[in-house]
Amino acid sequence: MKLTARSVSRALLAATLVATTTGGVVALATTSASAASTLGAAAAQSGRYFGTAVAAGRLGDSTYVGILNREFDMVTAENEMKMDATEPNRGQFSFSSGDRILNQARNQGKRVRGHTLAWHAQQPGWMQSLSGSTLRQALLNHVTQVATYYKGKIYAWDVVNEAYADGSSGARRDSNLQRTGNDWIEAAFRAARAADPGAKLCYNDYNTDDWTHAKTQGVYRMVQDFKQRGVPIDCVGFQSHFNSQSPVPSNYQTTLQNFANLGVDVQITELDIEGSGTAQAQNYQRVTQACLAVARCAGITVWGIRDTDSWRSSGTPLLFDGSGNKKAAYTSVLNALNAGGTTTDTTTTTTTTTTTTTTTTTTTTTTSQDPGPGGCTASVVLNSWNGGFVANVRVTAGSSALDGWSVTVPLPSGATVTNQWSANRSGNTGTVVFTNVDYNRSVAPGQSVEFGFQATGSAGSLSPTCSAR
Ligand code: G3I
Repeated sequence: MKLTARSVSRALLAATLVATTTGGVVALATTSASAASTLGAAAAQSGRYFGTAVAAGRLGDSTYVGILNREFDMVTAENEMKMDATEPNRGQFSFSSGDRILNQARNQGKRVRGHTLAWHAQQPGWMQSLSGSTLRQALLNHVTQVATYYKGKIYAWDVVNEAYADGSSGARRDSNLQRTGNDWIEAAFRAARAADPGAKLCYNDYNTDDWTHAKTQGVYRMVQDFKQRGVPIDCVGFQSHFNSQSPVPSNYQTTLQNFANLGVDVQITELDIEGSGTAQAQNYQRVTQACLAVARCAGITVWGIRDTDSWRSSGTPLLFDGSGNKKAAYTSVLNALNAGGTTTDTTTTTTTTTTTTTTTTTTTTTTSQDPGPGGCTASVVLNSWNGGFVANVRVTAGSSALDGWSVTVPLPSGATVTNQWSANRSGNTGTVVFTNVDYNRSVAPGQSVEFGFQATGSAGSLSPTCSAR
C-alpha cells in the first residue's frame, strides 16, 4: 500500500487508540503525527543525541541490551575506557572491554563518547606512584596511545575529567596530575587533538551545574582562557548527578548557555536524578528542556539504563526500573524531546552579565635583566576577574643550571593567596615567597618550569623576582 501523509496520520491515530484500549500506555499516547517513540529518535528530531552509559559486563543481559538497542543512539563506556582499564601495566594497553562496548554500539549504528583519557581517579597502580616529568610523559603517552587506537571511532572524548576542586576556591583539584604543572590539562588536549583530529574534545566535571558556584566559575575561566589562547577544546560535559543534596539548580540553563557562548558545545554527560514519581519526572523534564533551549547543547547521556544498573542504585535515579519498565521520568523526557525546544540563546545572558563582564584576562610578563650564571628570571601570566586572580609563573634558568629556586612575589594590599600548585609557599599576604618542590628543583640552562597560585583581591601588576637557592 502506498502511504500518503493522511494515511500515515490515520495509521498513527489507530495505533494510539489500540494502545489506549489495551491499557497501560495512555500517558505515552501523543497527539502529533511526528512524535517519536524512543529517546534517540525523539532527540534526533532536533539534531541531538540521547545516550547512556554501558557496562561491558551487562552486555549478556537481554533485557538490558534490548532497551539499549531500542532507545539510545549514543553510548559511553561506564568504566572500560578509563586509564586503569586501558593501560593496566605501563606501556601495555588493553582495549578488549572497551572494544566490546564500542563494537556493540557501532554495529547498531550508534555513536560513542570516549570516557576518559585523564583523571585523578581510576588510575592504574603504576601511574599513581609517578610524579613530575615522568608522570607527565606517561600521561601524554596514554592520551596519545588510547586516542590513536580509537581514532575515527569516537564522537567526543572526555579528555580531562574532574580536575577542579569542590567548595569555594574555584581552583584546580590537588592531584598527582595537577602537581606536574598547571598546564597538564592543555597538554592533554593538545595530545588528544594530534592523535584524533576528528573527535570533539571535552572537559567533563560534576557540581558545575549551578552558575553561581565557584567550581563552575573556575571551569568557565579555564575554558575561556583555552578558547582565547587557541588550546583545542570543543565541548564541556556537565555530568549532572542530582539528588536532594545537589538538586537541579534554577539557573541550570543559564550555565549551559554561558558555556556555549564561549564557543563550545555543551553536553549533559552522566545524568541521573535520585527520586521517584512525579517529582523525579519533573526534574528530568527540566533538564531536558534546558538542553533543548540551548542551541549548542548537543545531547544528553544518562548514567545507566535501569535503576539497578546505576552507581547510585538505592536512589532509583534512572529512566527504567529494575525490570526494564519505563518510569514516569522516561515519559517526561520523551514528551519533552517530542515537544522540542525553543532556542533562546540570547536571553540567558541577562542573569549572568555581571559575572561575565567583570571577568578579564590580563597578561603581564615581567622579565628581569639577564641573570647571568647561576641566576634565574620569573615571568607571570595573570588571569584576573572581579575579586580574584590566578597567576601562572614561569621560572627560567640563566646560563647555568638551577638546583633549587625561590620566587618572591610582592602582593598589593588586600590580596591573599588561597592555594598554589607545583611550589611550596611561605606567607599568603604582603611579600609571599614560593620555592621549588622536589620534581621541579633542577632546571637546565635556559630551560623553564612553571608553578601557579590563586588569590583573592586584585593582582595589580605583579613583579616577581627569582633567585637561585
Ligand atoms: O569490577 C569490579 C569487581 O570485579 C569487584 O568485585 C568489585 C568490588 O568492589 O568492584 C568492581 O569494580 C567497580 C566498578 O565500578 C565496576 O562496577 C569498582 O569497585 C567501582 O569503584 C567502580 O565504580 C565506578 C566509579 O565511576 C569509579 O570512580 C562506577 O561504576 C562508575 O559509574 C563511576 O562513574 C563515574 C564517572 O566515571 C565520572 N563521574 C562520576 C561517575 C560516578 O561516580
